[in-house]
This record gives sequence, structure tokens and C-alpha cells, in this order.
Amino acid sequence: MLKIGDIEMKNQVVLAPMAGVCNSAFRLTVKEFGAGLVCAEMVSDKGIVLQNDRTLDMLYIDEREKPLSLQIFGGEKETLVQAAKYVDKNTNADIIDINMGCPVPKITKCDAGAKWLLDPNKIYEMVSAVVDAVEKPVTVKMRMGWDDEHIFAIENAQAVERAGGKAIALHGRTRVQMYEGQANWDIIRDVKQAVTIPVIGNGDVQTPQDAKRMLDETGADGVMIGRAALGNPWMIYRTVNYLETGELMGEPTAREKIDVSILHLDRLIALKNEHIAVREMRKHAAWYMKGIRGNARIRNGINECTKRDQYVSLVTNFADEVEAEEQNAHQVG
Ligand SMILES: Cc1cc2nc3c(=O)[nH]c(=O)nc-3n(C[C@H](O)[C@H](O)[C@H](O)COP(=O)(O)O)c2cc1C
Repeated sequence: MLKIGDIEMKNQVVLAPMAGVCNSAFRLTVKEFGAGLVCAEMVSDKGIVLQNDRTLDMLYIDEREKPLSLQIFGGEKETLVQAAKYVDKNTNADIIDINMGCPVPKITKCDAGAKWLLDPNKIYEMVSAVVDAVEKPVTVKMRMGWDDEHIFAIENAQAVERAGGKAIALHGRTRVQMYEGQANWDIIRDVKQAVTIPVIGNGDVQTPQDAKRMLDETGADGVMIGRAALGNPWMIYRTVNYLETGELMGEPTAREKIDVSILHLDRLIALKNEHIAVREMRKHAAWYMKGIRGNARIRNGINECTKRDQYVSLVTNFADEVEAEEQNAHQVG
């Protein structure tokens, strides 16, 4: 089983941190679908230190989400440590995660995110400073390297372990790859063999069978799922079930997807407000509707919604139509 510090997860399935996605509304929904651990979207250390209102809002955690890992990013030791201390004392997160994978120039230019991957000594210095300053377990999420010429995954993971880090999540891509190409799972196996702390494998797990294959092939202690869970918390539920029983459950119906999208929207409204939530829901809705036949006909409508009730009536009518069409097809067939 996956255990980080003293925190024991009920299974090995982990929701990946995703900026703009993994707020409390989505995390709680995914948790209810059985995730062993949910990760929050990355939060800026400087935003925390400067007590920026919007940043502090990102630290909200519902008790029902726990165990939860809260990720911070930064490039300077002083602010990173200060932010970690704040999270340690003022939030109900169970784990403090440090981002060492974010590839976007806005972040790497500040010597944060994936930039650290070039320097195991910096990793050691930064992680030990945070570990010494907090009580909660500290973990790191990293990519395997900067580019093909600089793959220091093993050295970097060992630096995390020496510094007192309690687990590593490893995305098998370089920074330069961004999201291109295929994630390298061999490096996850190599890192797992090189450290004694838990390793969580990540990258391109698209189906429950992929999750099992990653665990089997790499020996990782956990499997982290990102994009496959967008608009699809069933991916988490089906994976947990497949790993436990070997049985592959069916995909959700259109009605189920639409009902959960409404629950997600209601949670976003409670978290933010209707104006922001309905707009934010547009991208989630596109993910929820993926795979439903005829979804193109409500795409524009969703993007024009500004009120909860508009969204609910649009998608509920759509679910009614899809069900009627399926019934007709069934009768004809
Ligand atoms: C929309 C989006 C936002 C992301 N934000 C973060 C983030 O805040 N912190 C982080 O460590 N990784 C972030 N990632 C990377 C994911 O956690 C994960 O490593 C990556 O998507 C590969 O896993 P997957 O193939 O299962 O999607 C993000 C990915 C996506 C698609």
C-alpha cells in the first residue's frame, strides 16, 4: 500500500496536481470516486508569503478530501521555506509537495519548477531547508530531466531522499518534451530501484489497464493520473476497482456524466461564485461531454452559459435527447 510518512492511503491511485483544475470542487468529486490521494494545483510561494487573497483562497481544503497533498512552487529558498511553514501551520493539508516539474517558461525563468532538475545540489539544499522547517511530510513531484542530454532523475531522486523527502512522484518526460512523445516508464523503474522512499509513477496512464501495467512494470508504490481524469472521475473509480478485483467496469452513461458535471458546477459555485464558476465550468463541461454522441450540438450553448440554471437545463435536455435516441436505436435494432 502507499504510505507517505505516517499517512497511509487506502489505495495506490493518486489524482495528479493540475493547475486550474484541481481545486476543492474537483478534488472532492474525485475523492468520492475513490482516489487514495488527491493533489491540489500548484500554489506560488510568493503569493502565500505576500498573502495574496486569491492565492490564499487556493489553500482551502474540505476535510472530506483528506488525505491531500498541497503543492507549492518557487525558486528561492527563503520564500519557499516561508510558504511551506505557512501551509504547515495554517492548512489542513496532510503533505507538502514541492513542484519540480512545471515546464512553462513563466515558472522556469524564476528558477522554479523543472529548472531545478539540472542541479541535484540545489534540490538537496531546497528540500532539506523545507523539511527542517515543517512538521508535515514533504514530497517532490519531478520530471525525469531537463532534456535528453540532462536526465538526472536518479541523482535528483537520491538528493530528495537524502534531504528527508518522504516520497517522489515522477513524470517520465523531460522539460523540453512538455507533453509531447511518450512518457518513459523505464526511468520510473530505475528511480524506484535507486531510492527507498515511495515512488509514484506518472505519465500517460489512460486506462485502468495502463495503471496496472505501470505498477507491474516499474514496481512503483502508486500510480498518478492526470489528463485521463479530466471530466472523468470514473477513470479513478474504474482504476481502483480494476486494481482491486481485476474486473473492468463499463464507461459511464451520458446521464451519469451530466449529473456529475452539475455536482461539480455546484461545488465550484460554492467555492467561487456563480459568475466565475459557470465560466470555469466551460472547459470541464467539454471534458465531461467527450465521447457522448452528438455533443457538438451543445458545445456553443455551453460556452455561452453565464448562469447555473442555463447550464443545467441545457445539459439535462441533452441527456434526455441522448437517452431518447438510444431508445429509438434500440427499438429499431
Ligand atoms: C492542465 C494541467 C495542469 C497541470 N498542472 C500541474 C501542476 O500544477 N503541478 C504539477 O506538478 N503538474 C502539473 N501538471 C502535470 C500533471 O500533474 C502530470 O504530471 C502530467 O499531466 C502527466 O500525467 P498524465 O499523462 O496522467 O496527464 C499539469 C498537467 C495538466 C494537463
